[in-house]
Amino acid sequence: MKKAYFITGTDTNVGKTLIASALLRAFVSRGFRAVGMKPVAAGCEETTGGLRCADVESLRAAGNVAAPPELVNPYALVLPVAPHIAAERAGVEIGIGTVLDAFRRLQAMSDVVVVEGVGGFMVPLNRREDTADMAQRLGVPVILVVGMRLGCLNHALLSAQVMKQRGLRLAGWVANQIEPGMPFLRENVAALEHGLQAPLLGEVPYQEGLSADEVAGLLRMALLD
Ligand SMILES: Nc1ncnc2c1ncn2[C@@H]1O[C@H](COP(=O)(O)OP(=O)(O)OP(=O)(O)O)[C@@H](O)[C@H]1O
Ligand SMILES: [Mg+2]
Repeated sequence: MKKAYFITGTDTNVGKTLIASALLRAFVSRGFRAVGMKPVAAGCEETTGGLRCADVESLRAAGNVAAPPELVNPYALVLPVAPHIAAERAGVEIGIGTVLDAFRRLQAMSDVVVVEGVGGFMVPLNRREDTADMAQRLGVPVILVVGMRLGCLNHALLSAQVMKQRGLRLAGWVANQIEPGMPFLRENVAALEHGLQAPLLGEVPYQEGLSADEVAGLLRMALLD
């Protein structure tokens, strides 16, 4: 059976790429052909060899399917700003149809596709559509990465509410300690266990230089099946 997940987060910079890469490692070590996808990447670096997007490179390194770059990352944008603005400045309109097409082609060459969103869960992609629409059109379960810091309860619960409104399933969430020593961490995790009503796939401690393989070892993959 083909699997796919949409990895979103409570914000930008909360560990989506790290967790998506860890999921890919976990699937690879279980014998799956797993490929990462970053439909829209902003803040890509211009190099002599073309645009270089750090997230895309991390996902590529974590998977085990050699997929064409235009499928892994249909939209690579230079400006490190909200995607619809970066796209407008590049003279491009982000189209969910293009993303869907690339996703289906990746699915055809793999067993698991792990799709990393952009920013949080309701980020505009163009004048009409946002990342929640993208997840809805892909029609895959969502995994929410919660960056454990003050304010995350509101962000996490609002994100889950929008998923419910859009008919999307929250397959699980990850408590990622993006700051050292968050006060009342336990109590915050407990509040989300109560409020999100979805499996807690793992708790990742704050640790600089954590590898995707190390994080993979912390994920309770059995809860995803
Ligand atoms: N548990 C952790 N401990 C320490 N550092 C972490 C942890 N999780 C993530 N980081 C670091 O935080 C930064 C942001 O992580 P990451 O790039 O995975 O976030 P993201 O949500 O994918 O960001 P973006 O919105 O730019 O795609 C990275 O430098 C990463 O190494
Ligand atoms: Mg990322």
